[in-house]
Amino acid sequence: MFCLPKTRSSHCHGNRMVAFLGILCCIAGIASAQTQIKVRIHADQPTVEISPHLYGLFFEDINDAADGGLYAELIQNRSFEYFSLKDTHPRTEFHPLYAWQIASSPKNRDRFVDATMQVHDESPLNSNNTHYVSVTADQPGTFGIQNLGFDGIRIDRSAKYDVSLYARVDDWRGDTPLTVRLLSPDGDVCGEVELPKPGSTWQKLDGVLTANETRDDARLQITTNGRGTLDLDMVSLFPQQTFNGRKNGLRKDLVEALRDLNPQFLRFPGGCITHGWGLDNRYRWKDSVGDVAQRKPNWNLWGYHQTYGLGYFEYFQLCEDLDMAPLPVVPIGVGCGFRCTEFVPMDELGPHVQDALDLIEFANGPVDSTWGSVRAEMGHPEPFGLEFVCLGNEEHDTPDMRQRFPVFAEAIRKVYPEIKIIGTSGLGTGIPIYDLMTKEKVYSSDEHYYMNPRWFFDNVNRFDSFDRDKPLIFVGEYAAHDTDRKNTLYSALSEAAFLTGIERNADLVDMTCYAPLFGRKGHMQWRPDMIYFDDRNVVRTTNYYVQQLFSRNKGDVYLANSIDVVAKSSEPLFDGHVGIGTWNTAIELAEAAINGRPLDLADWKSTSGEFDYTGGRLRQTDLQATPALAISHESFSGEKIVFTARVRKTGGKEGFLLRFASDANGNGGYWWNVGGWNNQQHGIESFDGDQSSTIAKVDGGIESDQWYNLKIEMNGDTLRCFINGDLKQQVQLGSLDVSISSTYDRDSGEIILKLVNPTAAEVDAQIEFSGVQAMASTASMVTLAGTKDAVNTFESPETVKPVASKIAAGTEFQHTIPPYAVQAIRIKSERTN
Ligand code: AHR
Repeated sequence: MFCLPKTRSSHCHGNRMVAFLGILCCIAGIASAQTQIKVRIHADQPTVEISPHLYGLFFEDINDAADGGLYAELIQNRSFEYFSLKDTHPRTEFHPLYAWQIASSPKNRDRFVDATMQVHDESPLNSNNTHYVSVTADQPGTFGIQNLGFDGIRIDRSAKYDVSLYARVDDWRGDTPLTVRLLSPDGDVCGEVELPKPGSTWQKLDGVLTANETRDDARLQITTNGRGTLDLDMVSLFPQQTFNGRKNGLRKDLVEALRDLNPQFLRFPGGCITHGWGLDNRYRWKDSVGDVAQRKPNWNLWGYHQTYGLGYFEYFQLCEDLDMAPLPVVPIGVGCGFRCTEFVPMDELGPHVQDALDLIEFANGPVDSTWGSVRAEMGHPEPFGLEFVCLGNEEHDTPDMRQRFPVFAEAIRKVYPEIKIIGTSGLGTGIPIYDLMTKEKVYSSDEHYYMNPRWFFDNVNRFDSFDRDKPLIFVGEYAAHDTDRKNTLYSALSEAAFLTGIERNADLVDMTCYAPLFGRKGHMQWRPDMIYFDDRNVVRTTNYYVQQLFSRNKGDVYLANSIDVVAKSSEPLFDGHVGIGTWNTAIELAEAAINGRPLDLADWKSTSGEFDYTGGRLRQTDLQATPALAISHESFSGEKIVFTARVRKTGGKEGFLLRFASDANGNGGYWWNVGGWNNQQHGIESFDGDQSSTIAKVDGGIESDQWYNLKIEMNGDTLRCFINGDLKQQVQLGSLDVSISSTYDRDSGEIILKLVNPTAAEVDAQIEFSGVQAMASTASMVTLAGTKDAVNTFESPETVKPVASKIAAGTEFQHTIPPYAVQAIRIKSERTN
């Protein structure tokens, strides 16, 4: 194998040079030797200011992130409002008594009498909370109900819990108070408190319970002694130890995990949940504020229920507690493009626009304004200082959306000209509605990508060529999806490499946040997530630690830098097998060649579907195969590989797939999809783990029964794709070598160097600084390293974790970057500029 050295420079954004320095060959046997690079930091060449709010958070109630998650309430279905979600999800288990049981007698106590429980809606607590439970005993004795919490209730010995409920009795004989107790599944009493005897009208009763045991499977029991009917609603149990001790507060350990990320903003409430399944299911912020007993719950499009207990007040308060800018997302009168095509008629849009305006008033309005007064009543007369509003989430490019977005933007600008409007770029990396956002002159536009790790490496340069006259970019959701959607170190390193490109372009990319944030063990609709939890444990993933490393070591200004790769042990980007494939299409391959040398098609192997070799040609006729693939026996390597194929379509809907850089079974690498997407587009797609990601697409299709000469030129890190001699696509991919970012932190007077090594080889780096008067002789360093597939789990949450150390530094020093690692090095310095 030949490995050619090269130089990569990133003197400033938009400058993406690949210069060939000289030829040093390394031979296969020596290829495992360390990669050698020369890193130069030009401290006197600041390029762009780093956005102060570059790293933030995205919260969505997915994977039980709110109820049963961040929201510290321990009672599930506290107001008996659950119902079956059979029409949208195969989740028929929900019903108004979900998580509730008839109370069982505790150990060593008198047996409870038989009772029944039924849900009713006559004379409810209020018109938003329409269901309650009636527990009836026909003979005198002790009876009641119990709640199982979210997979059991976590309690801690000596910890105090606030309990509250609404109760009333009907046709009642008896004079005893209510007893509320924590109980183990075996009936051991783990804490008990008495609440006053209820009257015949709804009354809120509360008390404090102290747990006398530590366990995760407790239940909360409410009983009384008498005969007749006890009505209960809004049964609540909160640990007093919430974050900052807030009432109706948030789980301390989970907020601490967020705090440790040093986040600068929080996007909320999502995600798809913002539009909801349809207009009726959209997130209604007005139902999420005020007294929790008055909040009207909503069902959750991810397949469960949301109480809105963690609502907009709690959200703004959390932002204030962690000093994050709130980034509320409001729906814009169109349904979620993935789930429905509903939209609000233009002449009925008024109340929806008003909702958005009222949210701003709730956050910032004076205490005598309608919504400012609600905020004040909730205990926060001071404004929350809202600066940004996000209009829409991941919108699909439809005329309805294009018509409605400007109405919201204009209305907000008219009433609140100081509010910065964050738009949406639409789905995928083609950012189809960026043009509308440009026309609307939004502050920034939100783009989302869930791609394979390879895509992130290939897109380290994504923003270098973006037009600086267009809106800023908000990367409002992204995550690398590795094999089986595991949070591998490799996935985290691909995100780290991508972030080095973002810092280089931080004049354009204003904010970024990983998504989704939370996943509750056993309740996941989506992986990977940044933080996993159960009732007691919090797992900070490799991806979490990458976010933390970047956010804690951001700096204020980017410094020009360059990397010279002197020798490298990693394989060139396009090493591997080539092949031909189809998607719902029949084809015939007549010739294939590498660098002009014809390949013997007879030894190509079908790795998916069936290719038939006759008369010197490979044929595929199954129109159902998606895909059919035949892969070359030989593999190819080198700095320049030219793959040519003469091929024609004989039937079906699409075109040809030219596979390259794959393994012998057709896994990994890339394909050029010629006449894909119903023969409408050509696209270069990468394969990593078990996922494909589209790198770039152009419009185009192919004809049936015509021979095509296709050519893919793989040169260094550049791909050029031709049809009949015409260049159709050209992309420059990121390399799997080291990626770096260099910034300066004005407060600490430190140069911060971030180094990402996603390869199996150590990297010997000669690091040099120019434009400095003085550099400290030592530096502090944080390293995140491990094996490629390392994952933090509940069983082993610290497989990969940051390790701090000191290293020798100076204006020139030698440094070894471990395999599969990201490091942040901070060195005190005096810059000449
Ligand atoms: O993060 C999960 C989902 O992914 C979000 O709800 C949505 O915006 C995106 O499609």
